[in-house]
Order: sequence, then structure tokens, then C-alpha cells
Amino acid sequence: MATENQNPKREENYAIKALNLTKKFEALIAVDNISFNISKGEIVGILGPNGAGKTTTIRLLTGIFKLEGKASIEIFNEDITKNLSRYKINFGIVPEVSNAFSDFTVWQNLKFSGGVYGFPKEKIEKRSKELLEQFGLIEKIHSKTKALSKGLKQRLNFCLALLHEPSILILDEPTSGLDPISVKLMRDRILQLKKEGKTILITTHDMQEAQTICDRILIMNRGKIIADESPDTIRERFKSTSTIRFKISGILSNDQKASLMDTFESIKKIKEYYSISSYDVLKDISTLFNYSKAKNVEISDFKVEETSLEEVFIHLIKEDSSSMGGLEK
Ligand SMILES: Nc1ncnc2c1ncn2[C@@H]1O[C@H](COP(=O)(O)OP(=O)(O)O)[C@@H](O)[C@H]1O
Ligand SMILES: [Mg+2]
Repeated sequence: MATENQNPKREENYAIKALNLTKKFEALIAVDNISFNISKGEIVGILGPNGAGKTTTIRLLTGIFKLEGKASIEIFNEDITKNLSRYKINFGIVPEVSNAFSDFTVWQNLKFSGGVYGFPKEKIEKRSKELLEQFGLIEKIHSKTKALSKGLKQRLNFCLALLHEPSILILDEPTSGLDPISVKLMRDRILQLKKEGKTILITTHDMQEAQTICDRILIMNRGKIIADESPDTIRERFKSTSTIRFKISGILSNDQKASLMDTFESIKKIKEYYSISSYDVLKDISTLFNYSKAKNVEISDFKVEETSLEEVFIHLIKEDSSSMGGLEK
């Protein structure tokens, strides 16, 4: 059979292709020559501590900061850096700092934004109402934006970002500091938007969020990308550190204690819980229950905790920070 055309360009079905992004603020290199791709329909998270360079990356990507040097950005295989209006059409942006007018009502903000895109009045009204319904904001339609709670304001920011039906959403810490109900609503909406085929780039410092909604995670620290993998792959690399946690009923005799320490070198006790770092969970569980039987020790409250992405994240950040650039390419 004839092989497919192997021109690598054909394989590139990227929504975003960013090359050599760099941003300096005087002596500080906030974004340090990073490159990444985002495929169509993917949700990619940029995860990093405060000051890592996430917002600066977004500002470079969305045309707020000028590209310098060798930097380039392609959106759907088109170099749009010379045509700033193309950003506006492709991107729906929920920025770190809202650009809604606080003295406007919810409705006035939507009408104003729709006007900026040049939409006819009926279209703006229809689309705005749909969005307000989806985001549970319809009762607030005539409320002043400044009177909205943080969670409701963020819902409005989503509506404003989605008004022109952009194919790419850029969300800068969209759930940061929100109440749990708004967080849940935002995450559900983000997953729904992915289902509808949107490409989504989201920054967060919340590992749980990255783990639950992202297909891929770029971990950023000190302006660099130090990992670019799926949440599962990142966790897999650190699987060795699953933790077995349990309690023991009653007080251990010296013999029972000594035997436990001999059996599990890594065992630790924090308050009433014992914990074992495990490289092989099944084997260690079996050893633990053999010990329990042989030494007549009753085990309770037993649980196995998989390495969370949070632990991996902290580990990677520590490793990178202590290497002082040792991971640089
Ligand atoms: N406008 C600016 N002027 C000077 N320094 C800035 C500016 N914006 C960001 N920085 C610095 O750049 C670094 C990265 O910031 P930022 O991209 O906001 O990080 P993040 O969004 O990951 O918290 C930080 O050290 C921050 O203080
Ligand atoms: Mg930020």
C-alpha cells in the first residue's frame, strides 16, 4: 500500500504553535525562550507557582506584549503575529485582571463587547442570553458589575470571552479565589467547551485542577517549561512514592514494634497514623498483612494514597530551583 505523505507539516494540526517566547523586565527574565504546541481540541494547563511566568506567557501569546528576537506564534498554521486583529477573532480570553467595566451592568458589558466585534444587535442579545443562562447569571443581567461577587464577576468574564464564539480559549487562573460552587461551575463549563471542540489553554497553580481537567500539563518555573506531559505520565514517573497509611489498634509491644521497623524501613508515624512509602503496593500490603497475622497486630483505617500530582509538582519545582538552571536545554 502506498504510504501516507510523510511531509511532517501535514501532521501538524496545531491550534497554537509558539516558538522561542521570551520576555525580560529589565534584568528579570520572566519568560525564558519557551516553545510549545497545543493541538486542536486539547486542554493544556500551564501549572506553576506565583511568579513562574504564566501570565507573561499569556500576554505574549495574546498580543499584549510584543514578540522579540526569534519568537513566533502560529494559530491554526498561520503566522498571526503581524496581524493583531486575528488574535481577537481566534481567542476568547479570561484575563488575570478582568476587563469588564465595573460601572456597567452585566447586560451593558455584553452589549459593549458585542459592539466591539461588530455584531448586529439581535445576535448580541441572543448570544448573551444563552451565555447568561449557561453561566447561571441571568438573574443578574441588570446588576452593576461592581456589585457582583467575585464568583459572579468571573462568570461574566467567561460570557464576555465566549461572546464571539472563539475557537481558542485562554484562561488565566480562572478559578483562583472563587467559592466552591463557582469553581465547580467553571470546571464543568470548561469541560463542556472542550466537548464542543474548543482548544483551551488554562493557567493554574492548583494541581487538582490541572489533574482533573487537563489533557496535558506544562509545568513552568522561573520562566521555563520544566515538564510537558499528561497528568498520568507525570504521576507515573513518581509512582514509586505511593503511600500506605494505617492505624494500629492498641499499643505495640517492643517485639511487635521492632518487627514492624525491621519489616518496613521507610515506616513513619505521624500522630496515630503509620505510613509506608511504597515502590510495590501489592507486595507491601501483603507483607503488612502477613506481619499483622504473625505478630497478632490489628490494623485499622487502612488506605493507599497514590502520589498526587501536587507532590510531583512540588518535587519538580524543588529540583529545578535547587539545580539553578541545571535542567536547561
Ligand atoms: N509588568 C511587569 N513589570 C515587571 N515585572 C513583571 C511584570 N509582570 C510580571 N513581572 C514579573 O515577571 C515574573 C513572572 O510574572 P507572571 O508572569 O505574572 O507570573 P505568574 O503568572 O506565573 O504568577 C514575576 O517575577 C513578576 O514579578
Ligand atoms: Mg499570573
